[in-house]
Amino acid sequence: MAVLAAGWVEAAPRAAAAPAAVPAPARSAVALAERKCGTCHAVPSARSRRSGWVGASVKMHERRVAMSREEWALIREYLGESSATAAR
Ligand code: HEC
Repeated sequence: MAVLAAGWVEAAPRAAAAPAAVPAPARSAVALAERKCGTCHAVPSARSRRSGWVGASVKMHERRVAMSREEWALIREYLGESSATAAR
């Protein structure tokens, strides 16, 4: 009788896939982004806008994505835009 490779189990769960170099965004910000930003396109990854996210695109988003100023501040921080003004 042949012994089948029944014990061939994948032992490494893919749990530790987070990039280590980048500081994690606030958990509330991640939740907010997942809830609010995934409806029209993929949720942008955290810290993906280090150089800023300014101009027409932000204005469009502020009109289309209904969020409070505090929530926008969270999102901006999540994107890595620490210098962003939560204008008006
Ligand atoms: C109502 C639909 C809609 C929602 C909701 C939405 N987006 Fe967008 N987003 C768009 C469209 C359309 C574009 C492409 C046009 C553009 O770049 O302005 C885009 C493009 C972008 C871009 C790339 C353009 C750039 O200037 O860098 C980023 C970053 C982005 N969205 C972030 C977000 C974030 C963060 C949220 C959640 C707060 C969000 N989006 C929610 C419609 C949406």
